[in-house]
Amino acid sequence: MRILVTGGTGYIGSHTVVELINNGYDVVVIDNFSNSKPIVLDKLKEITGKEIKFYEMDLCDSEKLREVFKKEDIDAVIHFAGYKAVGESVSKPLMYYRNNIDSTLSLLEVMSEFNIKKIVFSSSATVYGDPEKLPIKEDAKLSTTNPYGSTKLYIEGILKDLYVSDNTWSIAILRYFNPVGAHKSGLIGEDPNGIPNNLMPYIVKVANKELPSLNIFGNDYDTSDGTGVRDYIHITDLANGHIKAIDYVINNVGIDCYNLGTGTGYSVLEMVNAFKKTNKVEVPYNIVGRRDGDIAACYADPNYAYEKLGFKAEYGLDEMVESAFNYAIKNSKK
Ligand code: UFG
Repeated sequence: MRILVTGGTGYIGSHTVVELINNGYDVVVIDNFSNSKPIVLDKLKEITGKEIKFYEMDLCDSEKLREVFKKEDIDAVIHFAGYKAVGESVSKPLMYYRNNIDSTLSLLEVMSEFNIKKIVFSSSATVYGDPEKLPIKEDAKLSTTNPYGSTKLYIEGILKDLYVSDNTWSIAILRYFNPVGAHKSGLIGEDPNGIPNNLMPYIVKVANKELPSLNIFGNDYDTSDGTGVRDYIHITDLANGHIKAIDYVINNVGIDCYNLGTGTGYSVLEMVNAFKKTNKVEVPYNIVGRRDGDIAACYADPNYAYEKLGFKAEYGLDEMVESAFNYAIKNSKK
């Protein structure tokens, strides 16, 4: 079975490529390196012992995409490619809508032309907005608070319409909670450009003395210690969720959404303390005001993904914080 992975050199894409190869799949990767680096391909080869079949191209370029589908005998697609910075999407909404939606339409059109109708789509728990009930089930009310989130929600809608028009498609929509950590080799991991927006890469840079201190955005939320609570999931668990999903879409038709989370929420302070304790480092922090658009708490009900796909997260908090720091130490630019 040959899987086309769009955005396969990115954070989640690269870890998924490793697990696909570990599970005996053939992989073809497309990326334009808009938020990743070519060296990831060498690291993937080092980890898997396999040369990765790769096309550097923009997914919006339907002509080039057709060439890939002509050359490669693709059975199914995992679609990660897309812009993903919440703040940037607020200042550049058109760029987000144009890129994320255009590229997906181009991909789906070419897939239809080649009669390849199996896809796993990378969505996000951001589509739940400010949840009314916790833990969050897949049938919860959907809403978004920024253009990035809206692109995910709109693409979910496009996929649902596509399935209504042709029920021979098989579509799995995966709603990720908060992926953290890195592959155990320390060769691939999360490597954001510039100052990180997300908690874990920021903690890592503070621990590594590349940034002076962490700003904790609010300690007056209605949570156990007042700081925000999220469902952090180890990146290798998340990657394995894609293996379960691709196995499922290959063997079934239909469309469905699945939460990929652990079901356990940790606060910002719990994350900082776990990081300090496991890695034996200092993480100085200041409590500052709430960040615009943040919610108090968000964690998954992971049962549906377990019942239907057989997916269950296995890594604990220690492994998340340890692998995140291990990757940073091995790849420090200091
Ligand atoms: N936080 C800080 N300081 C920081 C960064 C984050 O205190 O420097 C806090 C946030 O306030 C929040 C928690 O850490 O309480 C997690 O924040 P992240 O930015 O790491 O993650 P979010 O939950 O805000 O957003 C992430 C992804 C989104 C995705 C969403 C899905 O960044 O792309 O999860 O739920 F949409």
